[in-house]
Amino acid sequence: MNQFGGNWTEQKIEMVVSYAKAYLIIMNKYPQFKSLYFDGFAGSGDINQNDETDIDAIKGTAIRILEINDPKSFDRYYFVEKDEKNKSELENTIKQNFPNKLFHVVAEDCNVKLESMATFLTKNPSYRTLAFIDPYGMSVDWKSIQGLRNLGVDLWILVPTGMGINRLLKNDGKISDAWLGKLERFLGLDKEYILNHFYKEKKNLTLFGEETFLEKEQNAIEKSGALYKERLKTVFKFVSESFVMKNSTNSIMYHFMMATNNATALKIANDVIKPKYKN
Ligand SMILES: C[S@@+](CC[C@H](N)C(=O)[O-])C[C@H]1O[C@@H](n2cnc3c(N)ncnc32)[C@H](O)[C@@H]1O
Repeated sequence: MNQFGGNWTEQKIEMVVSYAKAYLIIMNKYPQFKSLYFDGFAGSGDINQNDETDIDAIKGTAIRILEINDPKSFDRYYFVEKDEKNKSELENTIKQNFPNKLFHVVAEDCNVKLESMATFLTKNPSYRTLAFIDPYGMSVDWKSIQGLRNLGVDLWILVPTGMGINRLLKNDGKISDAWLGKLERFLGLDKEYILNHFYKEKKNLTLFGEETFLEKEQNAIEKSGALYKERLKTVFKFVSESFVMKNSTNSIMYHFMMATNNATALKIANDVIKPKYKN
């Protein structure tokens, strides 16, 4: 059982499930295409929401997606879950409850399987894919996303803006090489670009002359959400608005967005996000 929570967990599941239902209604009209659901951080099948006073288990996204049959199911499901125990739990649940569905569950790193998926889709152009990438942190490398260019993929991705990027962007700009490397891999940008984007160079007149120092942009988290959206636009034609997830102290933790090459898909994603956005 996975343990994490916040009511955005449920909102996120609802958004992906609503989108998947609309997606399958459309796919049902195009029998020449095969549909694949790819889940890069699939979890164990259920989620233990621990809000300190009450532990409430809810079905994870993988199971909610497998439950959709009307007007059709996905033709295939591919679940990636790095943790062996979670992987076995998910596999057993699916075997027991969905014996007739064509599925694979693999214990691997999502980056490896995103690359394999890109190769598969290039060789099998009749497949259309709904991909859900739901990491805790900055574990998805930009080059894995870049590999999806020109493929029939609609990608829902949770971007750890406050939880990840912003935590590495130290206030004084003195970021270790290891952290800069992580930012570079995650954003697919070099460190000069990243530092210029998030910091302003300031000057101080001191007793020993002028000293320069870096000042971090006030709205670095919002800027990182906007930057990731711009990065996705270099791979996909369209990127949705973001559903912004905040913690109890009103700090932004994640931006959740959808990237696609299809204008109708973009509209559906924005419709799915908008009502939640307003709340
Ligand atoms: C946020 S949970 C997933 C919840 C799930 N998407 C859901 O909605 O039910 C993240 C999961 O990703 C797994 N994980 C962590 N790093 C991974 C990686 N690099 N590749 C694949 N899975 C990973 C963790 O073991 C964990 O179960």
